[in-house]
Amino acid sequence: MRTCRMPEAPRRLLHIEASPRGARSRSSAVARHLIDRLGGIEIERIDVFDADLPELGGGMIEGRYALIAGEPVAPGIAADWAAIRAHADRLLSFDTWLISTPMWNFGLPYRLKHYIDLVTHPGMTFAVEPTGVVGLAAGRTAILVGSGALDTRPGSALADHDHQIAYLRRWLAFIGVEDVHGITICPTYGEVDAVEAVTGEAYAAAEAIAAELVARA
Ligand SMILES: Cc1cc2nc3c(=O)[nH]c(=O)nc-3n(C[C@H](O)[C@H](O)[C@H](O)COP(=O)(O)O)c2cc1C
Repeated sequence: MRTCRMPEAPRRLLHIEASPRGARSRSSAVARHLIDRLGGIEIERIDVFDADLPELGGGMIEGRYALIAGEPVAPGIAADWAAIRAHADRLLSFDTWLISTPMWNFGLPYRLKHYIDLVTHPGMTFAVEPTGVVGLAAGRTAILVGSGALDTRPGSALADHDHQIAYLRRWLAFIGVEDVHGITICPTYGEVDAVEAVTGEAYAAAEAIAAELVARA
């Protein structure tokens, strides 16, 4: 039988930052605005464009198939797989994840996808049981901040172009994360007034989510 845990107030938050635009990034700015309103919790950041992310090509990827078969990874790639496990363990050591990302070609910037591919392996963030896949990240809270030039918000004409927020929700569900909050900043291209309006709405949404999380304490 599945048990439901009430979401708790954040104590340790990992900000996974996927825009390489630094101070010019809208998604990063809205994420920082939310963080500034949480106060009194431990916060760490991983900038996926700057992080040391092991490659998953060549013989390395065979480790994934070994894990699926319930076998140890081959000795020649064990050190690299230990580095991958360290990324997954670090992610799971946080109760709250804040992922801020632009939309790139309808999906995620490749470095964020690389990070997701690194941490999503059997025995790390999910387990394969006789009854099916079980997410090992259950009980965590995720906040998604997605920016994009196009209006891909739910209900818009281009909503089906969204492989960014929709993809992140799909991935989070796969690894067991159910408490997910989304903020979109789009369209960021167009009339200045319209862009300012959606940006203001995103800051307001960040404030509302921060207030909701703080109120859980
Ligand atoms: C390589 C690249 C691809 C992009 N592809 C899309 C896209 O498919 N859809 C979209 O709405 N915007 C796209 N954009 C625009 C960015 O998502 C948009 O400028 C966003 O506001 C940037 O967010 P940031 O300031 O947080 O980096 C793309 C931008 C870049 C650099």
